[in-house]
Amino acid sequence: MNPALKERNIVIGVTGGIACYKVLDLIKKLRKLKANVYVIMTHSSQKLVDKKDFEKASGNKVQTDLFDPKVNYKDYIKKNKQIKHISLADIADLFLICPATANIIGKIANGIADDLLSTSIMATNASVLICPAMNVKMWKNTILQNNVEKLKKLRYEFIEPEYGILACGYKGVGRLANLDKIVGRIKATIDRRSNLAGKKILVTAGATSEEIDPVRVITNKSSGKMGVYIAEEAFLRGGDVTLIRGANAIEPQYFLKDIKIDNVKDLYSEIKKNLKDRDIIIHAAAVSDFTVNKKSKRKLKSFETLNLELGPTTKIFEKIKKLNKNIFLVGFKAEYRVTTKELVDRAYGLLKSADADLVIANDVGKKGRGFDTDTNEVFIVNKKKKTKHLNLADKRVIANKILDMIK
Ligand SMILES: Cc1cc2nc3c(=O)[nH]c(=O)nc-3n(C[C@H](O)[C@H](O)[C@H](O)COP(=O)(O)O)c2cc1C
Repeated sequence: MNPALKERNIVIGVTGGIACYKVLDLIKKLRKLKANVYVIMTHSSQKLVDKKDFEKASGNKVQTDLFDPKVNYKDYIKKNKQIKHISLADIADLFLICPATANIIGKIANGIADDLLSTSIMATNASVLICPAMNVKMWKNTILQNNVEKLKKLRYEFIEPEYGILACGYKGVGRLANLDKIVGRIKATIDRRSNLAGKKILVTAGATSEEIDPVRVITNKSSGKMGVYIAEEAFLRGGDVTLIRGANAIEPQYFLKDIKIDNVKDLYSEIKKNLKDRDIIIHAAAVSDFTVNKKSKRKLKSFETLNLELGPTTKIFEKIKKLNKNIFLVGFKAEYRVTTKELVDRAYGLLKSADADLVIANDVGKKGRGFDTDTNEVFIVNKKKKTKHLNLADKRVIANKILDMIK
């Protein structure tokens, strides 16, 4: 038996695609692995397969509507009673949409929540796996493909349809993926989603900014995306995550403990406060090496000549292991237009000086890497100077690969 699925709650959204009858077999496979299966059917899908068949297969009542006709909502609201209208979104360990129509993909990609399924998907913190199945022309449609690309950049994962003869008579890509492949992906996703369960993780992200005067700062181009994605993905894997981020970094999507900082001094102070009992720290913040020695209390006039004297900031990364010797320490090293050898050597030098466990190096001088981009290419260096190269990919994909290595 596969322990990963035992007692796990898998919510399956069934939409109005011709492949929806195949999901009955998929449910049997999942129940054999002792998963709890709950089904939400759209109105279209009920025209293709009877809801009773899904109730029989899953052993649970199928949900179809956002509003329950038996409930007097006006009364509920007046009496301030709790309304459990999307409870499956909360209990799901994994949300599978199978088969996924072009319509539901378009709705999720555009934030539409106009029925029970689309509303539950929007409200869930669980991983969402989407299994599209449709006519080849629909699958190739540019709008559909743009929606798929948009969702992949967020946290939605796809099990791509396969090539074959389609129900509509066409030959091409559009068949629902093989059911065993879908079960494999469900298992892998659930495995991954719990592999940091209970771990106390601190993540720093984004740029620091050092004041010159009350309105001007010295900062850098970091968007915080790399660190925030790492924090989000660690949270989705069951980690107890605290994020410390520069004030201009992107907002995290989930209810993480989120602390905003401005300058290096504040960042260091928050790290010190939050370091005790932590298992892992991933220090992805782009920390200024300099601070202004004498910052002006008044706004400097634009016609004044300005000679700034800069002094060094605290080397936070090198202090962490001294404050918590048991912590697993991961840092980032940004270099500008250097060779791979120089990049790796400098990352290793940083790792040694801080007694770190991993240092992730990237060359921010290359297109599509580093600061303020959606993608990254990194080299992960460990204590033995063994290096793992992650090719240019979306920062969320890189975040997950980094977490796989940390695990
Ligand atoms: C017999 C039949 C089969 C269909 N099969 C598919 C399909 O495989 N994939 C798809 O994207 N749409 C398919 N459609 C169209 C969808 O049912 C339609 O777009 C509907 O609005 C989807 O609603 P839903 O996403 O809420 O279930 C089919 C329609 C019919 C009548």
